[in-house]
Amino acid sequence: MFGYLKSQISLQISKRYIQKKKKNLSFDESKKHYCFGNLFILGIETSCDDTGAAIVSSKGYILAERTANQNKIHQKWGGIVPKFAKEAHKATIDSLVDKVIQDSGLTEADLSAISVTEGPGLSLCLREGLSKACLISHQYHIPVLPVHHMEAHALVARLEKKISYPFMCLLVSGGHNILILSKGMGDYTILGTTLDDSIGEAFDKVATLLKLRPEPSGGASIERLASNGNPDRYRFSLPLTNCGTADFSFSGFKSAARIFIKRNESFQKDSERILNWKSDIAASFQYAILDHLIQKVRIGIVTGLKESPNCRDIIVAGGVATNKKLRQMLFELAVEFGLKLSYPHTTRCSDNGVMIAWAGIERLRHGLAYSSKSLNLSKFVKPKSRWPLGNIYLRSYRSTKSMRKRDISIDLTALTESEMKRFTNNLQ
Ligand code: KG4
Ligand code: ZN
Repeated sequence: MFGYLKSQISLQISKRYIQKKKKNLSFDESKKHYCFGNLFILGIETSCDDTGAAIVSSKGYILAERTANQNKIHQKWGGIVPKFAKEAHKATIDSLVDKVIQDSGLTEADLSAISVTEGPGLSLCLREGLSKACLISHQYHIPVLPVHHMEAHALVARLEKKISYPFMCLLVSGGHNILILSKGMGDYTILGTTLDDSIGEAFDKVATLLKLRPEPSGGASIERLASNGNPDRYRFSLPLTNCGTADFSFSGFKSAARIFIKRNESFQKDSERILNWKSDIAASFQYAILDHLIQKVRIGIVTGLKESPNCRDIIVAGGVATNKKLRQMLFELAVEFGLKLSYPHTTRCSDNGVMIAWAGIERLRHGLAYSSKSLNLSKFVKPKSRWPLGNIYLRSYRSTKSMRKRDISIDLTALTESEMKRFTNNLQ
């Protein structure tokens, strides 16, 4: 039975193969995607500091999921050290994948495909996941589905809830800070992006300055402390208030927090007063940074609705999406525009294997899959560390820190468009 299922998924973008497979594929007109039987997809994520693996069925059931995070390894360095992250992925990946396969009750041979993060992220880390995927693919003749990490963050909420295109998605984590509009599978317009740091980086930095233990993360410890603080005690000035774009900037918040902390440190003698001013700084910082985020998302929503007036949903994903204050502020904003706010389950806001498996499934449904047979595997194990999702709608500055760097891969939207054309031509 599994052999049959596997044969259904072994899509190869070659005319003869597709013609042969056409009998097994059915096209659901109402959903505008292809239907397969129930397939089992292994998802592997290693783009940064979380090793994730999961098995998800094409009908959306999560058979097994595990994540190994590296917080303890990087904590003492005050940031992610790529070499240590790579070593940790290398040490964990085999056993993590074995465990999810065991948890699911399947064997490698039962897998229909392997979805793996191809980018963006740290090259050294991406390589570990890609090598593992290629190894299993080679041993068991299973196709590999390369996945864009941010697309996976955006799509995973659709596994849990019915969210139709077009939708907007705010992706806020330690590595990303963008607001996107998706008009369809693989079609992304970037409504706003950060000009410097991500909001997660700013939360982490201020947690370090306040000497908080990052449990489970710097952002989470700020949120806890802020709940007892006075958000009006310290005034943070907001950046980019006069430009009409949805671009974000977070580096100024870190500098302002550093000044407030330095100014106060020497005055505080007893532990209760220390706790009070730390809580007030955390609350004031959190209020200001979220205020900036929301003001910019508001501008982005207006643009998004102009582009796609029938958009009804906004998703928030990434580690910072677990922040309750942010959810409340976004909920109020969404209501104002008649949008429905959704977010993935808390464990799937951060990097995980389920989102990678699910993005692979969504791509398969649209006939967008490379097959391991059609790929030169040694070429494929070249991660796309800088890989934009799509075009930027409007920007206030000509280039950002990340745009100036070289080796940027062709954006996912352009790539998807050319793959779709190729797939349609092959079916004719
Ligand atoms: O998505 P994620 O787990 O990893 C990547 O960065 O890819 O996001 C981690 C980020 C960290 O910067 C962390 O401090 C932040 O998400 N974060 C939070 C909260 N929980 C995690 N920030 C604010 N409030 C939280 N409750
Ligand atoms: Zn991520």
